[in-house]
Amino acid sequence: MRIDLLAGTIYRAAVMPAPAPTILVFDSGFGGLTVFSEAVKARPDAQFVYAADDAGFPYGRLSEDALISRVVSVIARLIDLVSPDLVVVACNTASTLCLPALRARFSIPFVGTVPAIKPAAALSRSKLISVLATPGTVARDYTRDLIATYGGDCSVTLVGSRRLAGFAEAELAGCPVPDGDIAAEIAPCFVSRDGARTDVVALACTHYPLLLERFTRIAPWPVTFLDPAPAVARRMTQLLGPPIPRQRADEQAAWAVFTGGAGLSDSLRWALAERGLPRITIEPMPLHQS
Ligand code: DGL
Repeated sequence: MRIDLLAGTIYRAAVMPAPAPTILVFDSGFGGLTVFSEAVKARPDAQFVYAADDAGFPYGRLSEDALISRVVSVIARLIDLVSPDLVVVACNTASTLCLPALRARFSIPFVGTVPAIKPAAALSRSKLISVLATPGTVARDYTRDLIATYGGDCSVTLVGSRRLAGFAEAELAGCPVPDGDIAAEIAPCFVSRDGARTDVVALACTHYPLLLERFTRIAPWPVTFLDPAPAVARRMTQLLGPPIPRQRADEQAAWAVFTGGAGLSDSLRWALAERGLPRITIEPMPLHQS
């Protein structure tokens, strides 16, 4: 009898695939959508929740202490709400600072998004590379350490833009800013020295790939703009394993949670729906700055 029960248990474990995981993709705003798209492609079977801490946007302007406590408290609330199996921090500004605090506080796995220095250095022929990020990411020790460890023989130009994340949000909302404003923000990435020119620009803010077409058109010369989203999705799949066949007929579409929601215009709602996020909830978490 005992043997039969045991055999039954083993049999069920063998024929029933594990349930589809719930994955929380988190950013300060809409930038994480660039990671979300890749994550959905990598695990189409998963239940996704996209969370935008828009009440705290832009993270690039927050002090390090304020940002750590903000991100930890918002993620704590989201974990209560969503019970994810894994969290993708689709924000360089938060990942380069908050991952140790998040991993210390919560036992679920976190996948971060950090500047793609190593692939940029490997790809560059001119050995002049640039990292286009927020002022917060540029200032981090973490970013400096990545350059020291993986920058190889490249000269790395760090460019911290105060305005581009907002420009990316405007682009998504259907109110694109003029080329000249974008050109001024990306201009410091383009370095010409001793007959060599920058040939790789790592996009180290998840908002920036939303402006990729503009960057490519406006750039003073052609470069490779590196988007870290596919690498983040690969890391997520390494931790969770490959997709499993769907087993329930009642899955809900992915949904989006906003901590403020003040800027959610009809065109933004439409843009979210087009990206697979037709359901939006507001979970108010106002930012109290000291
Ligand atoms: N999307 C965020 C990042 O990757 C930053 C935008 C912000 O300043 O909030 O760094």
